[in-house]
Amino acid sequence: MPTTVRSHAKINLGLGIGAPRADGFHSLVTVYQTLELHDWVTVSARPAAETTIRLTSNDNRVPTDHNNTAWKMVELALASLQCIADVEIHIDKRLPVQGGLGAGSANAIAALVGLERELAGVFPSHPSSEERSKDGARESGAGETASIPPFDQQQLEGWGSRNLELAAQVGSDVPLFLIGGTILGLDRGQEVYPLPDIDPAWCVVALPQISVSTPQAFRDWDALCVEQCLTQEASAGKLKQLSRAYASAFAGGFPRGEREVGSSGVLSSGEDLAGPRESALVRAGIHGCLQNDFEQVVFRQHPSLAEIKRILAAPGTPEAALHASLSGSGSALYGLYQARGDAEAAQVRLEAAGVRSQLTRTVQRPVYWRGMIVEERH
Ligand code: C5P
Repeated sequence: MPTTVRSHAKINLGLGIGAPRADGFHSLVTVYQTLELHDWVTVSARPAAETTIRLTSNDNRVPTDHNNTAWKMVELALASLQCIADVEIHIDKRLPVQGGLGAGSANAIAALVGLERELAGVFPSHPSSEERSKDGARESGAGETASIPPFDQQQLEGWGSRNLELAAQVGSDVPLFLIGGTILGLDRGQEVYPLPDIDPAWCVVALPQISVSTPQAFRDWDALCVEQCLTQEASAGKLKQLSRAYASAFAGGFPRGEREVGSSGVLSSGEDLAGPRESALVRAGIHGCLQNDFEQVVFRQHPSLAEIKRILAAPGTPEAALHASLSGSGSALYGLYQARGDAEAAQVRLEAAGVRSQLTRTVQRPVYWRGMIVEERH
């Protein structure tokens, strides 16, 4: 029976970019957050004499050949497993095909999760079924759900780490979807670590009718680094400081007396900081480590996006966002709110400005994995 998987969107809660590297990529430090918003990816796999992959979608903007990330992921996984199968993938697009939300990357992981489930059912000796029975990581019977994501040490040494490596070959922001919830991303974004989940928040995703090319945004960033005479050393130092600030803010607060520097350059002493019961998001905001560096180049090109951020943020009003930002290189932007009413008020403001939006919530890691494989669609 085909397996249907939820393929969630992500936002970047903060994103620091370094100087360009010799391999054409940029080192970065980011915190990813998965959202409830999702596509549906359905996979079926049968033993076959030769491997064939077919991909369909309800949205004609989705590539249906080897250029699709889900196709690439399945092809790599089959080759890695030395498994010959006839695979069908259907992507039911519900997410906007909008830059910054990682929709294509999430589709790749949803296809992988679906493929694993299918292979465990039709190929009893498939490594994923052995791995599952060995460590009880995931169950595969009807009516059951996926459980813990593959990130603990035992799993990282086996199937999980192989998945992370394969995912990184498909794209820099693919592996994050093998973790889910709140995630620290390092190196080119593919090196991922689970952070304690932030408290659930309402999220309004603004969808301006502007398309931003990620490689172009990185090139614009390079020009800005030259303009600002940012050296490799200064940029590496900035990222190191930022990763420390994230680790502290998201992993339980700053120890008393420890001094940290936010990317805003503001020094704060431990005594002035929020206590352990304050949310990680508030702590990170206090320390100025929630900025997205892409805003510096993308807002220059598209000033209307800066205006949309202001609409989402509504600073100084009772409905102000906890945080508002561009996601990745955009053009999607988001606002996070404590109360549903505040999120809905933001949607009303966006509508008045002629900007489409969607209301969703952040999704924590256990919920992300519990709901991933669906037996029945609602
Ligand atoms: O890894 P991914 O295929 O998503 O990257 C797309 C492009 O974005 C890369 O070819 C590169 O130009 C740019 N990029 C980068 N630094 C990163 C991630 C992506 O320069 N950390």
